[in-house]
Amino acid sequence: MEQNSSNTIKFMYGTNIPVELHKVRMVQKLHLKPVDDRLKAIEEGGFNTFQLSTKDIFLDMLTDSGTNAMSDNQISSMLQADDAYAGSQSFYKMEAAVREVFGKHYVLPVHQGRAAENVISQAFIKKGDVIPMNYHFTTTKEHMEINGGEVLEIYTDEALKIKSNHPFKGNIDINKLNAVVEKHGAEHVAFIRMEASTNLIGGQPFSIQNMRDVKKVAEENGIMFVLDASLIGENAYFIKQREEEFKNTSIKDILRLMCSFADIVYFSSRKVSSTRGGGICTNSKELMLKMRDLVVLFEGFVTYGGMSVREIEAMAVGLIETTDETVISQSPSFINYAVTELDNAGIPVITPAGALGCHIDAKDFLSHVPQSEYPAGALASALYIISGCRGMERGTISSVRDKEGNDILADVELLRLAFPRRVFTLSQTMYLIDRVKWLYANRELVGGLKFVDEPKVLRFFMGRLAPTSNWPEKLVAKFKADFGDSL
Ligand code: F0G
Repeated sequence: MEQNSSNTIKFMYGTNIPVELHKVRMVQKLHLKPVDDRLKAIEEGGFNTFQLSTKDIFLDMLTDSGTNAMSDNQISSMLQADDAYAGSQSFYKMEAAVREVFGKHYVLPVHQGRAAENVISQAFIKKGDVIPMNYHFTTTKEHMEINGGEVLEIYTDEALKIKSNHPFKGNIDINKLNAVVEKHGAEHVAFIRMEASTNLIGGQPFSIQNMRDVKKVAEENGIMFVLDASLIGENAYFIKQREEEFKNTSIKDILRLMCSFADIVYFSSRKVSSTRGGGICTNSKELMLKMRDLVVLFEGFVTYGGMSVREIEAMAVGLIETTDETVISQSPSFINYAVTELDNAGIPVITPAGALGCHIDAKDFLSHVPQSEYPAGALASALYIISGCRGMERGTISSVRDKEGNDILADVELLRLAFPRRVFTLSQTMYLIDRVKWLYANRELVGGLKFVDEPKVLRFFMGRLAPTSNWPEKLVAKFKADFGDSL
């Protein structure tokens, strides 16, 4: 899909490369360790990229969470922070920014996105309730289930197709939504949740039209509508790009419109404002009061919510910067570049390019590795070994086991290569693309993984695995044969 933006810079010969509309004023040195050291590091990390230490990593593409680059204005705002347990001026600045950007009056601060999920789930889910949504996020699902709820994913048929040119694969299927309400009864639907730029299925957005349709069902049945706004800026950008009606609407107005459909908006500000923290906002005093005590109990007083006042200051600035198209388009345009290059090389990546990262279909890339041997995890380890680039498994390892102890195979088996906002350069992106292409040409060398230590909750974080054969050594030998003494 053609990515067109008012910020696009055209080149004389029609080349389409993203140009950074910012300059680098502070840098952090990186190390690219030799391939033998990388093999040793992943062995010590139990073939789980979460267990790597950044001293062994070249390009850290694990996530954009808490790793986006901050602006000069954000950093300088941190020096003005007002340290106070209660009534901090820093909080009031953040509250004003939330009101301006999301259009919601009541603001509850929390220490990160999953803390908001905890509060909302405890406040509104009763045992036996269902929560329909476009797709779950790992922490969201756990919190809802702990509180007795059942997550129902009612995505459209297009959502899980790897190759597609559908602009809004994050849409909710309205027929399925109506069927859920009919089957369970509105009183057993705790709320409808929409996740902006649906994380686990390739950072895919939904449209305003879909929000309108969802809102209609919610209103007709008296059901609450909750919006996960962690990646809302990118979703708004895609709406501007792909939904004809909004091509001349500002990101600021699109953000306001999106939030206007929701009764509650929550967010991880580790993502949305390039800081660390989170928040919940609503225009309903009644809803706010149902959550406020839980914030005080689990997070901290209502004017800091477990966050440092410095972060709260930077969050206020970062939220306003989310409305700047040159800021919010940076990550999607680099992702689009990488996806286009890999797709042209015949490598299976999710299309159209979405938010957050470039998503490789590991089931296809490693079609000889059965899903029970975790191809996405194996691919993440293999790519780290041959490049020093760290991605994240988003497949069966990130899933759970059923009551009988069998793996629930994930709908999609993805290696996510995140592009934190304004962090990597184009030559680093080109290096990544080169190494992914090399790995694709040598994919037969990569084998599977098995668990050797498997935690019961969110096993992908702390779990340890081992290769099912000596494939990592064979991969290293081929790397050396092809690249000689190159890092
Ligand atoms: N919702 C969405 C859509 C997310 O992507 C995340 C986090 C959360 C909620 C939870 O927020 O981490 O601040 O507690 N996503 C990160 C990621 C972890 O790497 O994609 P959190």
